[in-house]
Order: sequence, then C-alpha cells, then structure tokens
Amino acid sequence: MAAMKTSYPILVVAGLALMNSLPGQSSGLFPLVQNPEARTEQVLDGTWDRIVDPYLTGYLSYHSEVSEWGFFRDDKAQKPSDLVEYSFADSPKLKVPGDWNTQDEQLFLYEGNVWYRRLFEVDPDSDARYFLYFGAANYEAMVFLNGRKLGQHTGGFTPFNFEVTGLLKEGRNVLVVKVDDTRKPEGVPNLITDWWNYGGITRSVRLLKTPEAFIRDYFVQLDPDHPGQLLVRAEIEGKDSAGGVRLEIPELGLEEELEVDADGRAEASLPVENVTYWTPEQPHLYEVALAAGEDRIGDQIGLRTIEVRGQDILLNGKPVFLRGVCIHEESPMDGGRVTTEDEARTLLGWAKDLNCNFVRLAHYPHNSHMTRLADRMGLLVWSEIPVYWAIQWENPETFENARSQLEEMISRDHNRASIILWSIANETPVNGPRLDFLSRLAGRAREMDPTRLITAALNAQSVEGKTLKIDDPLSAVVDVMGFNSYLGWYTRELADEFADMKWVNPYNKPLIMSEFGAGALQGYHGTKEDRWTEEFQANVYVNNLEMIRGIESLRGTSPWILKDFRSPRRMLPHIQDFWNRKGLVSDRGIRKQAFRVMREFYEEMEAEWEAKPE
Ligand code: GCU
Repeated sequence: MAAMKTSYPILVVAGLALMNSLPGQSSGLFPLVQNPEARTEQVLDGTWDRIVDPYLTGYLSYHSEVSEWGFFRDDKAQKPSDLVEYSFADSPKLKVPGDWNTQDEQLFLYEGNVWYRRLFEVDPDSDARYFLYFGAANYEAMVFLNGRKLGQHTGGFTPFNFEVTGLLKEGRNVLVVKVDDTRKPEGVPNLITDWWNYGGITRSVRLLKTPEAFIRDYFVQLDPDHPGQLLVRAEIEGKDSAGGVRLEIPELGLEEELEVDADGRAEASLPVENVTYWTPEQPHLYEVALAAGEDRIGDQIGLRTIEVRGQDILLNGKPVFLRGVCIHEESPMDGGRVTTEDEARTLLGWAKDLNCNFVRLAHYPHNSHMTRLADRMGLLVWSEIPVYWAIQWENPETFENARSQLEEMISRDHNRASIILWSIANETPVNGPRLDFLSRLAGRAREMDPTRLITAALNAQSVEGKTLKIDDPLSAVVDVMGFNSYLGWYTRELADEFADMKWVNPYNKPLIMSEFGAGALQGYHGTKEDRWTEEFQANVYVNNLEMIRGIESLRGTSPWILKDFRSPRRMLPHIQDFWNRKGLVSDRGIRKQAFRVMREFYEEMEAEWEAKPE
C-alpha cells in the first residue's frame, strides 16, 4: 500500500508545553504479572470507542488545569438542557490491539492524544484478585476504571498492569484510557527516530484473575554460575497464605519445594541431569509447573547456556555464528504494528527462509508473539530498549524511563530461552554522560538477569586509509559488541572500494555486524552504479560480505533489514514515499536480489561452522 495521502491537514498537537507539565513517569502500577495469558479472565481486545483529542479537551480546562470534568467520567446528558460536548457511544471506533495511524487515513500522520473506551461485564469473585494488563500502549497511557484514575505508564513497547481488586463493579464496567504518542525531547526514544511513530493501544488488553496468594513472577533458566544446575526464582504475592513454592518439571523428574522468605521471595539452584538443551535446530521446551497455596501456573521453557569466551559466543558450550537479520515490529503486508501471532510467524518465517538462526528485534521490545514464537521456531534473539540516537543522558527522569523499560522488557521475557542478548542502546554518541547512563543500565540488566549477555549497537569508528578501527569505550561495558556500518551506502564511494577494508577490534570480545545494507525499490532495475536499483543493493551486500568475512572477531551478522518499513524521514517521491527501502523484502512481501545474496552467504557460513572441530 503506497503511503496514504491524508485528505486532512496534518494535525499537530497544540500546547506541547502543556504535555510536559503532566506527570511523565509511570505511577499507580503494580509489579508485572508473569505469563498473563495463563491468568486471563477476559481478553478485552476488539472494537473500542475513541475520541481524537488534539487539544486535551478531555483532560484540561480552558485555563490548562486538570479538569474534574474529563472524558474519564464518560458523562451523558441526563436531561435535554444538559451540556455534554462528547460521547464515546456516538464516536468512531478503533481496533485494539492496533495503531491508530493505519486504521483511519485522518490519523495517518496524527500525533497526540486519543481517548479509548471499553465497556465490559464481570461478576467478580470476592476471594480473587484482579488486574488490568496492557501488552503495550505507545507512548504514554493514563488509565481510568469506572471514573477513577488507576495510574499511568510511560514507554511505548513494554507491558504494564494495575490491580483493580475491589474496584470492579458487578455487571457493567467502564474502562477509559488516554494514549498520548507525542514525542518528547526527554523521551525514550526522543524526538527523532527512523521509524513511524505508531500511536495507540498497540498490544492486547486483558483482565487477569488470580487467587488471593499467587505466584506473581517466576524465573527458570540454567544457572550460569553452577553448571548442571537450574536457577529458580519466584515471587509470591500474599505469601502468608501461600506457604512454599512447588516446582515440577516432569520430563526432568524434578519436583522441589522452595522456601519463601519474609518478602515472599524464593531462590534456589537445583541439580538437573540429562537436559535436552534448547538450540535453533532443536528448540526443545519443557513443561514447567509451579504451585503455591491454591495457585497453579504452567509455562513452556527452554533450557540452554549462553556465554562468551574471548571472541567466541558459546551456545551450550559450543562456539556459534549468529546468522541473523534485523526486524522492525511492522506488519508484513499492511504496515502498522504487528498485532497477531500469524503476522509474527510470517516475519520469523521469512527469517528462516533466509537461513537465519538469529533475529535482532529492533529497536524496542517486540510483542510477546515474536519472542514466544522464536522459542518455538528456533531463532536466537537480540532484544532491545529504544535508547536510540540522542537521549537526554543527564536527565534523571530520562534514566528512570529507560530503566523501567529495561526492567519491563526483562521481567516479561526472562523465561524465553531464545533471547540471548539484552541490548541497551543503538548508535548513541560517544560522551561521558552517555557512558555513565548506559553503564548503569548494563549493571541493572546484569543484576536482574545473570543468565544472558549484554550488548549494544555501536557505530563510532576511526578510518585511516583501508583500516577501520572500532573506537567506542562502551565496548568495555558490554559482553558482545554490535556494530552498525553502512559502507557503500552512506558514503560517496561505491561498495566495490570497500571489500578490502581491514577492521581492527581493540577488544577481545565477540563482534556482531548488527547493521549493514542499502536501499532498493523492489522491481527497479539498472546497473550496480544506479542508486535505488536492486542491482545497486545486491552489490553493496556482495562487497560488505566479502569485507566482513575478514573480520577476525566476527561472530554474527544481522543486515538492516528484513522488510521495507515506514519512516517519516524517508521522503524521496516515487522511491521512498515515507518508506525506508533497505528491506531484503519489499513492503508487499516480494524478495529483492539481495535476499538471495544474503541467503547464500548464510548457507556457506552454516556449512563452515558445522565443519569446525568441536
Ligand atoms: C541506522 C539505524 C536504523 C536506521 C538505519 C537507516 O543504523 O540504527 O534505525 O533505520 O540506520 O539509516 O536506514
């Protein structure tokens, strides 16, 4: 679909300054409930009422004060003389999950506030607990239930939930959500990104139900500090009536009672034998059951080890080469955010067709369809928070925002064996405050999850003649270095002149070429000198692959990018039209010549690495 032409002026949010006066951080939140699918009482997806509110009329008075008559009240005229200037019932609708940009041409370029309303019926149990769980809302969500503000969340790609026990009514309940996708200089990401700012409730909304005492979180992975042992952590809500936690993995013959401390936490390292390790070739998942008091919960969890030794990445103790590709979370055929498991399966299926064993989910945590399918389909994963390009490194609120998005990413997915890398940044400038900011993020990630590796996509280099030296002190902080390089594209010289470039990696660490590539309009043909042709793009790939083969510390590649994707920064008429054309596949799902070049390279690499002696 070509970029939709709006028949309306581009609506730009007025009163941007007002936005900053609103509380920007998350509040009223409950710690994330693990495995919400297993706790679901009602899925609240479907058709929601919506009111587009560019001037925050539903939240501020004409004197710009927070109004007590906001849209969260869902008021209706009670008598003919009453003045109510909005009506959810009579307003247009939006699908949830889904971005608003691709559901209504009026909203294609809209950036600002949209109100959502969902009515739902429930018959609450007095001895149960209830939570409203949001898979994600881009970028700030303020949530009201039956006219009462539950709280708000900042961050467009991670889940959040509120406890609503005792706030649900017997019968009809009114859920109202204000979503604001206005970009902010202090945001994470900030004002400028090379992807479309898809706004809205972009992932599923669920009403969760649990017993009074329940296992809020659990973490089951092989213990990196004790080979042959399983690291198990659990957190119990309402621990007093729960007693201990029971863990069962029948296929391993494991049954264990774990002690719970005064804070409701349990942690143990348990010997396990005859483990079938999770690998891309054999993505074995174990049925894991946990119980506490009357609470029972099950999950499917893969077991594998990941570590670095010098320049090698070891999966289950064996050196591995990551044959990857970068992916944005954009629907394979229609643009807009991925919302279904089928769309996720299509994207990951294309990666498999490319002969990948690895995907870089750029530049933000993708929906849980992608990570659960990667577990099942056998794809190693690089998962990333949107600390992208220029960030306000010295703003404490910005750090808190990045930290909470990191914690939410890790909390949601720390049981997914496919994820081996947590990435804390992409192409951030080299300076002191940035190094401090990212070092603290890396420390927090390691504290939460000692079982995975930390990485970031770097791009600082020094070039002298035919030698390119990686030159970024963040390299000392990460376990695995990602590096983005666009020789042959963001350079005047043609790619032919780069094949013999020599790379110097001063760090004895594994290097992943986390981005390289070029743009091409699918179906546009010419010579390798003709920019935007498939031949030009393929020639960049051929020469880049020849060059990176010579990088001694190279242990993976993830070219940019699997599929053309929408970006407000790409406006060359008839070629880009608000699409970034660096995809190996077009926005209509058609493969370009470079797809074959990349697949052949991966077939060679797979054969070479399989032939390596153990
Ligand atoms: C950068 C960036 C991507 C961007 C790409 C490009 O490396 O990480 O988000 O889309 O280059 O310029 O196409």
